[in-house]
Amino acid sequence: MDIRPLGIDPSQCLIGANWTAPHGARKLPLINPSDGTPLCDIAAGDAQDIDAAVAAARAAFEGAWGRATAVERGRVLARIGQLVLEHKEELARLEALDVGKPYTQAMADVVALARYMEFYAGAADKLHGETIPYLDGYTVYTLREPHGVTGHIIPWNYPMQIIGRSVGAALAVGNACVLKPAEEACLTALAFAELGRRAGLPAGALNVVPGLGAEAGAALSAHEDVDHLSFTGSVGVGKLIQTSAAQNIVPVTLELGGKSPQVVFDDADFDAALPFLVNAGIQNAGQTCSASSRILVQESRFDELLAAMSARYKALNAGPALDDLELGPLVSQRQKQIVEGFIAKGSDLELAASGQIAADAPAGGAYVAPRLYACADPDHMLAQDEVFGPVQVVIPFRDEDHAVAIANGTRYGLVASCWTRDGARQMRLARKLRAGQIFLNNYGAGGGVELPFGGTGLSGHGREKGFEALYGFSTLKTVAAYHG
Ligand code: NAI
Ligand code: MG
Repeated sequence: MDIRPLGIDPSQCLIGANWTAPHGARKLPLINPSDGTPLCDIAAGDAQDIDAAVAAARAAFEGAWGRATAVERGRVLARIGQLVLEHKEELARLEALDVGKPYTQAMADVVALARYMEFYAGAADKLHGETIPYLDGYTVYTLREPHGVTGHIIPWNYPMQIIGRSVGAALAVGNACVLKPAEEACLTALAFAELGRRAGLPAGALNVVPGLGAEAGAALSAHEDVDHLSFTGSVGVGKLIQTSAAQNIVPVTLELGGKSPQVVFDDADFDAALPFLVNAGIQNAGQTCSASSRILVQESRFDELLAAMSARYKALNAGPALDDLELGPLVSQRQKQIVEGFIAKGSDLELAASGQIAADAPAGGAYVAPRLYACADPDHMLAQDEVFGPVQVVIPFRDEDHAVAIANGTRYGLVASCWTRDGARQMRLARKLRAGQIFLNNYGAGGGVELPFGGTGLSGHGREKGFEALYGFSTLKTVAAYHG
């Protein structure tokens, strides 16, 4: 297939003003996970390309982009948002082909990307400091300033959304960005950079260098002229990124996934809960950092809920992304192997139900049928480890304390929800559950770009999304003036 996102050659990097081949002219094949065929080649950037991109970002920060006013930055972001919507069909198709995401889910990501641009466009001129009452003869105030050059290493599961929340916020504050997309999926990152150019981002304000994690990613995270790092991906690589950040003493935001629970009490509205319980597990074929992979149900209604979820599972189908079924393939054969490894470790659990792989799904695709397990042991590997595939476990609990103990009984803490009609219990659980986002009688709240997001424990630290992200992508300077 000949793929040219917005007419650009996908085997190039955007460094400064121009699309250029990586200096070594190396390429990596991009595979369509729906059928296993090659889509196109992408650039395999390395340390030298990262060096050039960081230098271009530094020049932009010290030049036109650094001098742009908050209003001007906001206007550019607004124009990018508009262009994203004008090209939404192409972007959704690229993401569907590249990630294997069902088209409707890819389109939702496009719309979210546009919303991020709109939100941060509007926020750019609303980030301000304070004046601080102090000693006689002094005027003291604070300035919110960009860090400088920010490095963004993103994964393949939601490229557009993660670009929106990290690059969008970083640009709004006035940072110049170097983006390293994932080697499994990077077409919409390239398209986004091209839309940035067309929207009037000055040269170097946003640079994109695709490449392997161990090469381009490691070079970016270790670069001494990068002032802030934002990473979304695995715990293992998160540790490497934090170690690199420690070497250079730069701040880092880590978003590393989770084992997010939904706690369903016996007084919950099951009909309202059911679609959320299942969708939060199988959206993007379970390859979602905030996927809900654990459903905790009060014992008295365990069988009833398991049966209701099972009925839904039996109606789920996985097929090619452009067929737009409930699930697409996983992103790669490698991810499929990881997930099948977990499934093998669940062979001692009761498989309550599974969905199907569509009969006409190509044999070369990375399909995994969704699976629902009953799991009495909250310490079972499938109830503890992030699978990153369409696998959910349903765990019984006795009472509120037991539910909280199980919910908080993993090393992760990204998202949690509680389903109950008891208002006091909702308030207690919102405080007791260990997670960066708590949902009461819903899950995900539609993913709103306005809602600060991030985790605790192995899920990482720092917050992206919402206005809060602007604090993370800026630094505070205190000015104390003595005037007598
Ligand atoms: P990964 O953490 O290796 O990849 C994420 C990004 O980090 C990619 O851009 C990759 O090129 C980059 N990277 C890899 N090694 C690097 C290094 N040494 N230095 C700097 N950057 C590096 O994740 P992978 O291998 O794609 O997936 C493995 C598992 O990670 C998944 O099964 C899932 O459990 C988890 N994961 C979690 C995500 C989340 O949203 N929290 C997203 C992707 C993966
Ligand atoms: Mg990896």
